[in-house]
Amino acid sequence: MTGFFRQHGTLVCDGVPLSRIARAEGTPLYVYSAATIVERYRAIDEAFASHPHTLHYALKANSTLAIARLFRGLGGNVDANSGGEIDVALRAGFIPPQIVFTGVGKTQAELAQAIELGVKSINAESDGELERIDALARARQTRARVALRVNPDIDARSHPHISTGLKTNKFGIALDRARDIARRFSRREGIEIVGLHAHVGSQITDLEPLTGAARALVALARELQDDGVRIEHLDLGGGLGISYDGSPVPSARDYADALLPAVRDSGLAIILEPGRNIVAPAGALLSEVVDVKEQPGGKLFVVLDAGMTELIRPMMYNAFHRIEPVETASTREVLVDVVGPLCESSDTLGKDRRMPRPEAGDLFAVLDAGAYGAVMASNYNRRPMPAEVLVENGTYSVIKRRQTIDDLVALES
Ligand SMILES: Cc1ncc(COP(=O)(O)O)c(C=O)c1O
Repeated sequence: MTGFFRQHGTLVCDGVPLSRIARAEGTPLYVYSAATIVERYRAIDEAFASHPHTLHYALKANSTLAIARLFRGLGGNVDANSGGEIDVALRAGFIPPQIVFTGVGKTQAELAQAIELGVKSINAESDGELERIDALARARQTRARVALRVNPDIDARSHPHISTGLKTNKFGIALDRARDIARRFSRREGIEIVGLHAHVGSQITDLEPLTGAARALVALARELQDDGVRIEHLDLGGGLGISYDGSPVPSARDYADALLPAVRDSGLAIILEPGRNIVAPAGALLSEVVDVKEQPGGKLFVVLDAGMTELIRPMMYNAFHRIEPVETASTREVLVDVVGPLCESSDTLGKDRRMPRPEAGDLFAVLDAGAYGAVMASNYNRRPMPAEVLVENGTYSVIKRRQTIDDLVALES
């Protein structure tokens, strides 16, 4: 068994007891299972084996260097969303042809960096950005490889904050303008249009929007081929969700079964940019109970040493995460709100949870926190960023040390 499960009543990660890791490294602490990442990466890769494809792991989900290196070791590629993520990819050992560069507001400096490196594709967001890419590439006497990010006006049926494929969203080029724009820019000296891209949202558990976006890209690619534009690949983005609460969700196989029929006849290679689906279940946030307090006539609160600064998803997306005691207790169950230590009422990790009454000093694991967890941590209330460890082959290593207050103030004068 891989990942987080109970062994003799105690929660372990790939067989290593979480209590042992927390005792040695302190809390709050992110713990990742390398075996889960490997397993879930391979599940997607194998599901698409019958069609030419490359997996570009979305670094935005979790870009800690050791995690990025793990993907490189698996033969993966990356999707970078900023100059910083490109830099991390290079430090992790990826080469430019393994990087696609996405992002709604790429700066001149970031575009120049991507063009000079010669990344596999810059996923262009607008005609304005195409103009800038063309000018930057011509000034460097080169041609930038570009995919048009298309906005197909498709509802991902996910949380509004992570839906990106509607025309009311800021992302991409409207589908009905894309043909004209592609034709126009394909004649530019500084631009080689090599692909089409769509990413309609994240935590998608109904596959129809993904199939719809794939069909739209295939139809557009046909039109462009008729226009003499040579498309090499279709980038179908990421977005496949996971089950945070145990309810059934599509598997990697279901995902491939939904997408492949839409793209197979195009004869075009596909790129996928999975993030959450691979790393979310591979991570847990460990935290210690600081206090258990009852508001008379109100609620029972379990106050953790981790909160919205370590994991903002519950506050930002109203996201549900399972929160489990690391050691099972036989005391009676109570109804609690699990909250963080910050000066915000919205600093709540779980509302109305039934669990054995905890005590100060108990350890808790917030599960499925490997994606959009550590990467979204902040220093609000002057809280240092948590440490991160990776469990691999029956042992663990610290892959990011805990930040100190000295680290924090080092930037200030
Ligand atoms: C362009 C792009 N690709 C890939 C992803 C990864 O999405 P997910 O983590 O849902 O797979 C995102 C995230 O929203 C994205 O914006």
